[in-house]
Amino acid sequence: ELTVASENNPYDFVVVANRLPVDRITLPDGTQGFQRAPGGLVTALEPVMAASEGAWVGWHGGIDEELAEFDKDDIHLVPVPLSEQDLNLYYEGFSNSTLWPLYHDVIVPPEYHRTWWDRYKKINQRFADAVARTAAQHATVWVHDYQLQLVPQMLRLARPDLKIGFFLHIPFPAASLFSQLPWRTQILEGLAGADLVGFQRETDASNFLRCLRRFTDYSTRGHEATPSATHGIQNLCRAEAHPISIDTKEIAKLSRDPQIIARAAQIRLELGNPKTIMLGVDRLDYTKGIRHRLKAYGELLNDQSLRAGDVCLIQVASPSRENVGSYMELRDQVELMVGQITGQHDTLSHTTLRYLHHSYPLREMIALYLAADVLLVTALRDGMNLVAKEFVAAHQDGRGVLVLSEYTGAADQLTQAVLVNPHDIDGMKAKIIEAVKMDQNEQARRMRRMNRHLLDNDVTGWSAHFLAELAEINSRANQISPS
Ligand code: G6P
Repeated sequence: ELTVASENNPYDFVVVANRLPVDRITLPDGTQGFQRAPGGLVTALEPVMAASEGAWVGWHGGIDEELAEFDKDDIHLVPVPLSEQDLNLYYEGFSNSTLWPLYHDVIVPPEYHRTWWDRYKKINQRFADAVARTAAQHATVWVHDYQLQLVPQMLRLARPDLKIGFFLHIPFPAASLFSQLPWRTQILEGLAGADLVGFQRETDASNFLRCLRRFTDYSTRGHEATPSATHGIQNLCRAEAHPISIDTKEIAKLSRDPQIIARAAQIRLELGNPKTIMLGVDRLDYTKGIRHRLKAYGELLNDQSLRAGDVCLIQVASPSRENVGSYMELRDQVELMVGQITGQHDTLSHTTLRYLHHSYPLREMIALYLAADVLLVTALRDGMNLVAKEFVAAHQDGRGVLVLSEYTGAADQLTQAVLVNPHDIDGMKAKIIEAVKMDQNEQARRMRRMNRHLLDNDVTGWSAHFLAELAEINSRANQISPS
Protein backbone atom coordinates (compact mmCIF):
# COMPACT_ATOMS: atom_id res chain seq x y z
CA GLU A 1 0.00 0.00 0.00
CA LEU A 2 3.07 2.23 0.34
CA THR A 3 3.46 1.96 -3.42
CA VAL A 4 -0.17 2.99 -3.96
CA ALA A 5 0.22 6.05 -1.73
CA SER A 6 3.36 7.06 -3.61
CA GLU A 7 1.49 7.21 -6.95
CA ASN A 8 0.08 10.57 -5.93
CA ASN A 9 3.42 11.88 -4.72
CA PRO A 10 5.18 14.38 -6.92
CA TYR A 11 8.60 14.06 -5.23
CA ASP A 12 10.95 12.46 -7.72
CA PHE A 13 14.15 13.45 -5.87
CA VAL A 14 14.35 12.77 -2.15
CA VAL A 15 17.31 13.47 0.12
CA VAL A 16 17.49 11.74 3.51
CA ALA A 17 19.88 12.87 6.23
CA ASN A 18 19.79 12.83 10.02
CA ARG A 19 19.26 16.60 10.06
CA LEU A 20 17.00 18.82 7.93
CA PRO A 21 18.89 21.72 6.29
CA VAL A 22 17.19 24.33 8.51
CA ASP A 23 17.90 26.10 11.78
CA ARG A 24 15.21 27.07 14.25
CA ILE A 25 14.87 30.83 14.80
CA THR A 26 12.65 33.09 16.86
CA LEU A 27 10.83 35.53 14.58
CA PRO A 28 10.41 39.24 15.49
CA ASP A 29 6.84 38.56 16.70
CA GLY A 30 8.16 35.95 19.15
CA THR A 31 6.90 32.89 17.25
CA GLN A 32 9.15 30.03 16.14
CA GLY A 33 10.25 29.70 12.54
CA PHE A 34 12.93 28.07 10.43
CA GLN A 35 15.66 29.50 8.26
CA ARG A 36 17.85 27.67 5.79
CA ALA A 37 21.00 26.34 7.43
CA PRO A 38 24.24 27.31 5.69
CA GLY A 39 26.22 24.40 4.28
CA GLY A 40 27.72 22.92 1.16
CA LEU A 41 25.32 19.99 0.88
CA VAL A 42 22.20 22.18 0.62
CA THR A 43 23.94 24.52 -1.81
CA ALA A 44 24.96 21.59 -3.98
CA LEU A 45 21.52 20.05 -4.03
CA GLU A 46 19.56 23.25 -4.49
CA PRO A 47 19.78 23.27 -8.31
CA VAL A 48 18.73 19.60 -8.40
CA MET A 49 15.90 20.29 -5.95
CA ALA A 50 14.69 23.25 -7.99
CA ALA A 51 14.87 21.37 -11.32
CA SER A 52 12.81 18.46 -10.01
CA GLU A 53 10.19 18.13 -7.30
CA GLY A 54 12.61 17.83 -4.41
CA ALA A 55 11.98 16.72 -0.83
CA TRP A 56 14.28 16.39 2.17
CA VAL A 57 13.55 13.94 5.00
CA GLY A 58 15.32 14.57 8.34
CA TRP A 59 15.17 15.44 12.01
CA HIS A 60 14.19 19.05 12.71
CA GLY A 61 16.22 19.39 15.92
CA GLY A 62 13.29 19.39 18.38
CA ILE A 63 12.92 16.85 21.16
CA ASP A 64 9.63 14.96 21.44
CA GLU A 65 8.03 17.26 18.91
CA GLU A 66 5.77 16.22 15.99
CA LEU A 67 5.91 18.74 13.15
CA ALA A 68 3.84 18.83 9.95
CA GLU A 69 5.60 18.78 6.57
CA PHE A 70 6.36 22.24 5.17
CA ASP A 71 7.99 24.00 2.21
CA LYS A 72 11.08 26.21 2.37
CA ASP A 73 12.79 27.78 -0.70
CA ASP A 74 11.84 25.16 -3.34
CA ILE A 75 12.39 22.23 -0.94
CA HIS A 76 9.63 20.17 0.63
CA LEU A 77 10.71 19.32 4.19
CA VAL A 78 9.55 16.14 5.92
CA PRO A 79 10.38 16.31 9.66
CA VAL A 80 11.14 13.03 11.45
CA PRO A 81 10.41 13.22 15.20
CA LEU A 82 12.88 11.95 17.81
CA SER A 83 12.08 11.48 21.50
CA GLU A 84 14.57 12.07 24.28
CA GLN A 85 15.16 8.32 24.46
CA ASP A 86 15.67 8.15 20.69
CA LEU A 87 18.35 10.83 21.04
CA ASN A 88 20.03 8.94 23.85
CA LEU A 89 20.09 5.55 22.20
CA TYR A 90 20.14 6.24 18.45
CA TYR A 91 21.97 9.61 18.18
CA GLU A 92 24.29 9.96 21.21
CA GLY A 93 24.51 6.17 21.62
CA PHE A 94 24.80 4.05 18.50
CA SER A 95 25.59 6.86 16.01
CA ASN A 96 28.05 8.87 18.08
CA SER A 97 29.45 6.47 20.70
CA THR A 98 29.57 3.29 18.58
CA LEU A 99 29.84 4.12 14.88
CA TRP A 100 31.64 7.50 15.06
CA PRO A 101 34.64 6.26 17.12
CA LEU A 102 34.76 2.89 15.29
CA TYR A 103 34.81 4.57 11.87
CA HIS A 104 37.49 7.05 13.04
CA ASP A 105 40.04 4.33 13.81
CA VAL A 106 38.97 3.82 17.46
CA ILE A 107 40.66 7.05 18.68
CA VAL A 108 38.37 6.52 21.68
CA PRO A 109 36.97 3.04 22.39
CA PRO A 110 33.59 2.39 20.72
CA GLU A 111 30.87 1.06 23.03
CA TYR A 112 28.66 -1.82 21.95
CA HIS A 113 25.19 -1.99 23.52
CA ARG A 114 22.29 -4.08 22.23
CA THR A 115 19.72 -1.50 23.37
CA TRP A 116 21.48 1.13 21.22
CA TRP A 117 21.49 -1.16 18.20
CA ASP A 118 17.77 -1.98 18.61
CA ARG A 119 16.93 1.71 18.64
CA TYR A 120 19.21 2.43 15.66
CA LYS A 121 17.24 -0.16 13.61
CA LYS A 122 13.94 1.28 14.77
CA ILE A 123 14.87 4.88 13.89
CA ASN A 124 16.36 3.88 10.52
CA GLN A 125 13.00 2.20 9.78
CA ARG A 126 11.22 5.42 10.77
CA PHE A 127 13.31 7.42 8.27
CA ALA A 128 12.82 4.74 5.58
CA ASP A 129 9.02 4.76 6.10
CA ALA A 130 8.97 8.56 5.76
CA VAL A 131 10.86 8.30 2.45
CA ALA A 132 8.62 5.49 1.18
CA ARG A 133 5.58 7.72 1.85
CA THR A 134 7.18 10.72 0.13
CA ALA A 135 8.91 9.39 -3.00
CA ALA A 136 7.15 9.20 -6.39
CA GLN A 137 7.28 6.02 -8.53
CA HIS A 138 10.84 5.48 -9.83
CA ALA A 139 12.11 8.47 -7.84
CA THR A 140 15.79 8.93 -7.02
CA VAL A 141 16.57 8.77 -3.30
CA TRP A 142 19.91 9.92 -1.89
CA VAL A 143 20.66 8.73 1.67
CA HIS A 144 23.41 10.47 3.67
CA ASP A 145 25.87 9.37 6.31
CA TYR A 146 26.54 6.90 9.11
CA GLN A 147 23.37 7.58 11.09
CA LEU A 148 21.26 5.99 8.32
CA GLN A 149 23.18 3.01 6.98
CA LEU A 150 20.23 0.58 7.14
CA VAL A 151 17.93 2.84 5.12
CA PRO A 152 19.08 1.71 1.63
CA GLN A 153 18.16 -1.94 2.20
CA MET A 154 14.91 -1.01 4.01
CA LEU A 155 13.91 1.13 1.04
CA ARG A 156 14.79 -1.52 -1.50
CA LEU A 157 12.50 -3.99 0.29
CA ALA A 158 9.61 -1.51 0.59
CA ARG A 159 10.05 0.24 -2.77
CA PRO A 160 11.98 -1.80 -5.36
CA ASP A 161 11.06 0.84 -7.99
CA LEU A 162 13.39 3.49 -6.45
CA LYS A 163 16.91 4.42 -7.54
CA ILE A 164 18.89 4.44 -4.30
CA GLY A 165 22.18 6.23 -3.69
CA PHE A 166 24.10 6.45 -0.42
CA PHE A 167 27.00 8.73 0.51
CA LEU A 168 29.20 8.22 3.59
CA HIS A 169 30.66 11.57 4.72
CA ILE A 170 33.06 9.95 7.23
CA PRO A 171 35.79 7.33 6.66
CA PHE A 172 35.01 3.64 6.25
CA PRO A 173 37.42 1.72 8.52
CA ALA A 174 39.75 -1.14 7.66
CA ALA A 175 38.26 -4.65 7.91
CA SER A 176 40.43 -5.43 10.96
CA LEU A 177 38.66 -2.65 12.91
CA PHE A 178 35.19 -2.97 11.37
CA SER A 179 35.19 -6.64 12.37
CA GLN A 180 34.69 -5.56 16.02
CA LEU A 181 31.11 -4.48 15.32
CA PRO A 182 28.68 -7.16 16.58
CA TRP A 183 26.21 -6.09 13.83
CA ARG A 184 28.78 -5.84 11.02
CA THR A 185 26.84 -8.07 8.62
CA GLN A 186 23.58 -6.14 9.06
CA ILE A 187 25.29 -2.77 8.50
CA LEU A 188 27.05 -3.99 5.35
CA GLU A 189 23.84 -5.47 3.93
CA GLY A 190 22.03 -2.26 4.83
CA LEU A 191 24.45 -0.21 2.72
CA ALA A 192 24.58 -2.74 -0.11
CA GLY A 193 20.84 -2.20 -0.64
CA ALA A 194 21.89 0.95 -2.54
CA ASP A 195 22.66 0.96 -6.27
CA LEU A 196 25.59 3.29 -5.64
CA VAL A 197 27.53 3.79 -2.41
CA GLY A 198 29.84 6.82 -2.49
CA PHE A 199 32.86 7.37 -0.23
CA GLN A 200 35.32 10.23 0.31
CA ARG A 201 38.47 8.26 -0.62
CA GLU A 202 39.42 5.21 -2.72
CA THR A 203 40.64 3.58 0.50
CA ASP A 204 37.17 3.86 2.04
CA ALA A 205 35.54 2.21 -1.00
CA SER A 206 38.04 -0.65 -1.01
CA ASN A 207 37.70 -1.14 2.77
CA PHE A 208 33.93 -1.47 2.26
CA LEU A 209 34.26 -3.95 -0.60
CA ARG A 210 36.72 -6.06 1.39
CA CYS A 211 34.33 -6.10 4.37
CA LEU A 212 31.45 -7.17 2.09
CA ARG A 213 33.53 -10.13 0.86
CA ARG A 214 34.59 -11.10 4.34
CA PHE A 215 31.43 -10.65 6.37
CA THR A 216 28.51 -11.16 3.92
CA ASP A 217 27.64 -13.53 1.06
CA TYR A 218 28.26 -10.78 -1.53
CA SER A 219 30.98 -11.36 -4.05
CA THR A 220 32.77 -8.44 -5.71
CA ARG A 221 34.28 -7.71 -9.10
CA GLY A 222 36.16 -4.44 -9.39
CA HIS A 223 33.88 -1.81 -7.87
CA GLU A 224 30.73 -3.94 -8.07
CA ALA A 225 29.17 -6.30 -5.55
CA THR A 226 26.41 -8.89 -6.02
CA PRO A 227 24.76 -11.12 -3.43
CA SER A 228 24.69 -14.94 -3.72
CA ALA A 229 21.71 -16.44 -5.58
CA THR A 230 19.96 -17.42 -2.33
CA HIS A 231 20.10 -13.89 -0.87
CA GLY A 232 16.77 -12.14 -0.27
CA ILE A 233 17.69 -9.09 -2.33
CA GLN A 234 19.09 -9.27 -5.86
CA ASN A 235 20.65 -5.95 -6.70
CA LEU A 236 24.00 -4.92 -8.00
CA CYS A 237 25.79 -2.44 -5.72
CA ARG A 238 28.57 -0.18 -6.96
CA ALA A 239 31.05 1.34 -4.47
CA GLU A 240 33.40 4.14 -5.44
CA ALA A 241 35.08 7.36 -4.31
CA HIS A 242 33.25 10.68 -4.83
CA PRO A 243 35.21 13.21 -2.73
CA ILE A 244 32.94 16.03 -1.57
CA SER A 245 33.92 19.66 -2.06
CA ILE A 246 32.82 23.24 -1.40
CA ASP A 247 31.11 26.07 -3.27
CA THR A 248 34.49 27.37 -4.41
CA LYS A 249 33.25 30.36 -6.46
CA GLU A 250 30.98 31.60 -3.68
CA ILE A 251 33.78 31.48 -1.10
CA ALA A 252 36.20 33.16 -3.51
CA LYS A 253 33.59 35.86 -4.12
CA LEU A 254 33.07 36.44 -0.38
CA SER A 255 36.83 36.71 0.09
CA ARG A 256 36.78 39.76 -2.25
CA ASP A 257 33.90 41.46 -0.38
CA PRO A 258 35.29 44.81 0.93
CA GLN A 259 33.37 44.46 4.21
CA ILE A 260 34.90 41.04 4.87
CA ILE A 261 38.37 42.27 3.93
CA ALA A 262 37.95 45.19 6.36
CA ARG A 263 36.78 42.79 9.06
CA ALA A 264 39.91 40.64 8.54
CA ALA A 265 42.13 43.72 8.99
CA GLN A 266 40.20 44.62 12.14
CA ILE A 267 40.72 41.12 13.58
CA ARG A 268 44.49 41.43 13.05
CA LEU A 269 44.58 44.90 14.53
CA GLU A 270 42.60 43.92 17.61
CA LEU A 271 45.04 41.07 18.27
CA GLY A 272 47.83 43.67 18.29
CA ASN A 273 49.02 43.05 14.72
CA PRO A 274 51.20 40.02 15.50
CA LYS A 275 53.72 38.97 12.86
CA THR A 276 52.05 35.59 12.45
CA ILE A 277 48.45 34.55 13.00
CA MET A 278 47.76 30.84 13.04
CA LEU A 279 44.23 29.46 12.94
CA GLY A 280 42.45 26.25 13.87
CA VAL A 281 38.74 25.75 13.08
CA ASP A 282 37.04 22.56 14.20
CA ARG A 283 33.99 21.11 15.86
CA LEU A 284 35.22 20.31 19.37
CA ASP A 285 35.76 16.62 18.50
CA TYR A 286 38.49 14.16 19.51
CA THR A 287 39.03 13.22 15.86
CA LYS A 288 40.35 16.72 15.10
CA GLY A 289 43.69 16.41 16.90
CA ILE A 290 43.24 19.68 18.82
CA ARG A 291 45.30 18.43 21.79
CA HIS A 292 48.16 17.34 19.50
CA ARG A 293 48.09 20.77 17.87
CA LEU A 294 48.15 22.60 21.22
CA LYS A 295 50.94 20.34 22.45
CA ALA A 296 53.09 21.24 19.44
CA TYR A 297 52.23 24.94 19.70
CA GLY A 298 52.98 25.08 23.44
CA GLU A 299 56.35 23.40 22.92
CA LEU A 300 57.26 25.81 20.10
CA LEU A 301 56.61 28.70 22.50
CA ASN A 302 58.50 26.98 25.35
CA ASP A 303 61.64 26.35 23.32
CA GLN A 304 61.33 29.81 21.72
CA SER A 305 61.17 28.51 18.16
CA LEU A 306 58.17 30.86 18.10
CA ARG A 307 58.49 34.17 19.96
CA ALA A 308 55.47 34.72 22.20
CA GLY A 309 55.23 38.40 21.24
CA ASP A 310 55.21 37.65 17.48
CA VAL A 311 52.54 35.01 17.24
CA CYS A 312 48.91 34.30 18.04
CA LEU A 313 46.92 31.11 17.50
CA ILE A 314 43.16 31.56 17.10
CA GLN A 315 41.43 28.27 17.92
CA VAL A 316 37.73 28.15 17.06
CA ALA A 317 36.22 25.02 18.64
CA SER A 318 32.50 24.92 17.95
CA PRO A 319 30.32 23.13 20.50
CA SER A 320 29.31 19.62 19.42
CA ARG A 321 27.54 16.56 20.91
CA GLU A 322 27.79 18.03 24.39
CA ASN A 323 25.87 15.21 26.09
CA VAL A 324 28.38 12.55 25.01
CA GLY A 325 30.96 11.67 27.71
CA SER A 326 34.05 11.62 25.52
CA TYR A 327 33.20 15.12 24.22
CA MET A 328 32.84 16.47 27.78
CA GLU A 329 36.23 14.99 28.70
CA LEU A 330 37.84 16.45 25.61
CA ARG A 331 36.51 19.90 26.43
CA ASP A 332 38.04 19.73 29.92
CA GLN A 333 41.40 18.57 28.54
CA VAL A 334 41.51 21.26 25.82
CA GLU A 335 40.52 24.02 28.24
CA LEU A 336 43.22 22.90 30.69
CA MET A 337 45.85 23.07 27.94
CA VAL A 338 44.61 26.49 26.80
CA GLY A 339 44.96 27.78 30.37
CA GLN A 340 48.48 26.37 30.66
CA ILE A 341 49.65 27.99 27.42
CA THR A 342 48.07 31.41 27.97
CA GLY A 343 48.99 31.47 31.67
CA GLN A 344 52.61 30.89 30.85
CA HIS A 345 53.10 32.96 27.69
CA ASP A 346 50.54 35.80 27.65
CA THR A 347 51.31 39.31 28.83
CA LEU A 348 48.88 42.05 29.80
CA SER A 349 49.00 43.39 26.26
CA HIS A 350 49.34 40.25 24.16
CA THR A 351 47.71 36.84 23.93
CA THR A 352 49.41 33.82 22.34
CA LEU A 353 46.20 31.84 22.08
CA ARG A 354 42.63 33.00 21.56
CA TYR A 355 40.28 30.09 22.30
CA LEU A 356 36.67 30.48 21.13
CA HIS A 357 34.06 27.88 22.08
CA HIS A 358 31.46 29.21 19.61
CA SER A 359 30.31 28.77 16.06
CA TYR A 360 30.29 31.68 13.63
CA PRO A 361 28.42 32.63 10.45
CA LEU A 362 30.18 31.98 7.14
CA ARG A 363 31.11 35.65 6.52
CA GLU A 364 32.96 35.84 9.85
CA MET A 365 34.70 32.55 9.03
CA ILE A 366 35.96 33.98 5.74
CA ALA A 367 37.28 37.04 7.60
CA LEU A 368 39.16 34.70 9.97
CA TYR A 369 40.61 32.73 7.02
CA LEU A 370 41.75 36.03 5.47
CA ALA A 371 43.26 37.27 8.71
CA ALA A 372 45.28 34.07 9.17
CA ASP A 373 48.76 33.34 7.78
CA VAL A 374 48.70 29.62 8.56
CA LEU A 375 45.77 27.19 8.96
CA LEU A 376 46.44 24.16 11.16
CA VAL A 377 44.39 21.05 10.26
CA THR A 378 45.83 18.26 12.41
CA ALA A 379 43.00 15.69 12.47
CA LEU A 380 43.82 12.16 13.61
CA ARG A 381 41.19 10.94 11.16
CA ASP A 382 38.74 12.97 9.04
CA GLY A 383 36.47 11.92 6.17
CA MET A 384 37.28 15.04 4.12
CA ASN A 385 37.80 18.28 6.14
CA LEU A 386 36.07 21.10 4.29
CA VAL A 387 37.72 23.78 6.48
CA ALA A 388 40.99 23.06 4.65
CA LYS A 389 39.25 23.56 1.29
CA GLU A 390 37.48 26.74 2.42
CA PHE A 391 40.75 28.28 3.65
CA VAL A 392 42.34 27.70 0.25
CA ALA A 393 39.32 29.07 -1.65
CA ALA A 394 39.34 32.18 0.58
CA HIS A 395 42.98 32.84 -0.39
CA GLN A 396 42.66 33.98 -3.98
CA ASP A 397 45.24 36.57 -2.88
CA GLY A 398 47.84 33.76 -2.95
CA ARG A 399 48.77 34.42 0.66
CA GLY A 400 48.69 31.82 3.44
CA VAL A 401 49.91 28.30 4.13
CA LEU A 402 47.83 25.20 4.76
CA VAL A 403 49.27 22.71 7.25
CA LEU A 404 47.24 19.54 6.62
CA SER A 405 47.09 16.15 8.31
CA GLU A 406 47.77 13.11 6.12
CA TYR A 407 44.80 11.50 7.86
CA THR A 408 42.19 13.66 6.09
CA GLY A 409 40.37 12.94 2.83
CA ALA A 410 41.45 16.43 1.71
CA ALA A 411 45.12 15.36 1.77
CA ASP A 412 44.41 13.17 -1.30
CA GLN A 413 43.53 16.31 -3.27
CA LEU A 414 45.32 19.28 -1.68
CA THR A 415 48.74 17.81 -2.33
CA GLN A 416 50.44 21.24 -2.29
CA ALA A 417 49.69 21.62 1.42
CA VAL A 418 52.39 21.14 4.05
CA LEU A 419 51.43 17.57 5.00
CA VAL A 420 51.90 16.42 8.60
CA ASN A 421 51.54 13.32 10.76
CA PRO A 422 49.82 14.68 13.90
CA HIS A 423 51.10 11.76 16.02
CA ASP A 424 54.67 12.92 15.38
CA ILE A 425 54.87 16.03 17.58
CA ASP A 426 58.50 16.87 16.65
CA GLY A 427 57.78 16.39 12.96
CA MET A 428 54.69 18.56 13.21
CA LYS A 429 56.64 21.31 15.05
CA ALA A 430 59.20 21.36 12.23
CA LYS A 431 56.44 21.62 9.59
CA ILE A 432 54.72 24.45 11.45
CA ILE A 433 58.00 26.40 11.45
CA GLU A 434 58.44 25.62 7.75
CA ALA A 435 54.93 27.02 7.15
CA VAL A 436 55.60 30.18 9.19
CA LYS A 437 58.83 30.83 7.26
CA MET A 438 57.59 29.95 3.76
CA ASP A 439 58.35 32.75 1.30
CA GLN A 440 55.61 34.62 -0.51
CA ASN A 441 56.31 33.17 -3.98
CA GLU A 442 56.18 29.62 -2.74
CA GLN A 443 52.94 30.36 -0.86
CA ALA A 444 51.36 31.80 -4.01
CA ARG A 445 52.53 28.92 -6.21
CA ARG A 446 50.95 26.35 -3.92
CA MET A 447 47.72 28.29 -3.34
CA ARG A 448 47.25 28.75 -7.12
CA ARG A 449 47.58 25.03 -7.80
CA MET A 450 45.22 24.05 -5.02
CA ASN A 451 42.72 26.70 -6.09
CA ARG A 452 42.77 25.43 -9.65
CA HIS A 453 41.84 21.99 -8.30
CA LEU A 454 38.98 23.42 -6.21
CA LEU A 455 37.58 25.43 -9.13
CA ASP A 456 37.54 22.29 -11.30
CA ASN A 457 36.14 20.14 -8.48
CA ASP A 458 33.44 22.00 -6.58
CA VAL A 459 30.43 20.72 -4.67
CA THR A 460 28.03 21.15 -7.60
CA GLY A 461 30.27 18.91 -9.69
CA TRP A 462 30.37 16.43 -6.83
CA SER A 463 26.59 15.99 -6.66
CA ALA A 464 26.21 16.10 -10.47
CA HIS A 465 28.76 13.30 -10.93
CA PHE A 466 27.25 11.16 -8.18
CA LEU A 467 23.71 11.52 -9.54
CA ALA A 468 24.80 10.97 -13.16
CA GLU A 469 26.55 7.78 -12.12
CA LEU A 470 23.46 6.62 -10.22
CA ALA A 471 21.23 7.27 -13.24
CA GLU A 472 23.63 5.42 -15.53
CA ILE A 473 23.76 2.34 -13.27
CA ASN A 474 19.98 2.22 -13.23
CA SER A 475 19.53 2.45 -16.98
CA ARG A 476 22.03 -0.42 -17.36
CA ALA A 477 20.27 -2.51 -14.68
CA ASN A 478 16.93 -1.98 -16.43
CA GLN A 479 18.35 -3.19 -19.74
CA ILE A 480 19.55 -6.39 -18.07
CA SER A 481 16.30 -7.19 -16.28
CA PRO A 482 13.33 -5.05 -17.39
CA SER A 483 10.70 -5.03 -14.65
C1 G6P B 1 29.87 15.39 10.65
C2 G6P B 1 28.93 14.31 10.15
C3 G6P B 1 27.54 14.86 9.88
C4 G6P B 1 27.03 15.64 11.08
C5 G6P B 1 28.04 16.73 11.47
C6 G6P B 1 27.61 17.52 12.72
O1 G6P B 1 30.19 16.26 9.63
O2 G6P B 1 29.45 13.69 9.00
O3 G6P B 1 26.64 13.81 9.57
O4 G6P B 1 25.78 16.20 10.82
O5 G6P B 1 29.28 16.12 11.72
O6 G6P B 1 27.36 16.66 13.80
P1 G6P B 1 25.94 16.56 14.50
O7 G6P B 1 26.03 15.35 15.39
O8 G6P B 1 25.76 17.83 15.26
O9 G6P B 1 24.88 16.40 13.43
